[in-house]
Amino acid sequence: MPVDHEFGGQHTELKLSIVEGYLNAYTLALRTYFKHLWYIDAFAGTGSRTVRTERRGATLVETPVPEVIEKRRGSAQIALDVNPAFDFIVFIEKNRNYAAALHDLAAKYLQRRIFVAEEDANSALKSLVANNSWLDKRAVVFLDPYGMEVEWTTLQALAGTEAIDVWFLFPLAGLFRQATRKLTDIDDHKRTALTRMFGSDSWETELYPSGAPDMFGDLPERRRELDPRGLERYVQRRLSEIFAAVLDPLALPIDRGPQMFSLFLCISNKSPEAIGLARRIGNYLLDPKRHLIIRPPTQ
Ligand SMILES: C[S@@+](CC[C@H](N)C(=O)[O-])C[C@H]1O[C@@H](n2cnc3c(N)ncnc32)[C@H](O)[C@@H]1O
Repeated sequence: MPVDHEFGGQHTELKLSIVEGYLNAYTLALRTYFKHLWYIDAFAGTGSRTVRTERRGATLVETPVPEVIEKRRGSAQIALDVNPAFDFIVFIEKNRNYAAALHDLAAKYLQRRIFVAEEDANSALKSLVANNSWLDKRAVVFLDPYGMEVEWTTLQALAGTEAIDVWFLFPLAGLFRQATRKLTDIDDHKRTALTRMFGSDSWETELYPSGAPDMFGDLPERRRELDPRGLERYVQRRLSEIFAAVLDPLALPIDRGPQMFSLFLCISNKSPEAIGLARRIGNYLLDPKRHLIIRPPTQ
């Protein structure tokens, strides 16, 4: 029986079209130079997604719209459709039913080299990095988690290859929730999640600076002053400590608040040519002006 994977909204469509644009440009540009071009989808889903458009009743000016349920391509299917094709594709998915759907998808492409890992993305990526030589390969990794699943040590491993470009849908709303306004509201659970995500507890002093004592010598309460955009800049700065280059991210959704995600492109290759190429394609795709929907003013 087909597995339904229902998720996302307008920003999902946009995110996938950006990644798709990059993958097509990437294989086209590198095909002649590298024999081994890999794509690794670390939160792969099922290959398709179910999109439900809600029914709308009639109003004085609008006719009713029935509910529409349609299947669209997920990142795994998009990667398989990339032209020129990747010569090896890895799908990582923890959910057993979704992994089974990916096996079914792979079975339709008998001529292709596809590997499905039913595993946690962090451990799978780290062993993939450790067990391969990266001198003769180039790869793109797509990190598309629901929340704060990606560990700093995983990002470090990817960056250390100097051969992988990483598209990372960073869960800004998740960070905003975990990094509460007051430091004293951070319980052990939140603290562990933040430290796993940022690799050390330096976030505590960086996000919650201690102020100067007042006239009685009392220290003010430590608070996070950064708003979502400030947090996004913090994340970009931290990613830039381990990757050779990190492009300015696209805030998603783009047409309404609050910001839920930041779509980052992180480049691990240190060569100016590789960074230049990724920047040219990535900056074009991530430019918010290309994606803004201009709505007519309401009457
Ligand atoms: C937002 S969905 C990904 C959608 C997919 N990129 C697509 O476009 O169809 C996140 C996926 O990650 C999977 N997942 C969640 N935690 C995971 C983990 N730690 N390791 C691997 N997969 C995980 C979920 O089961 C889910 O399918």
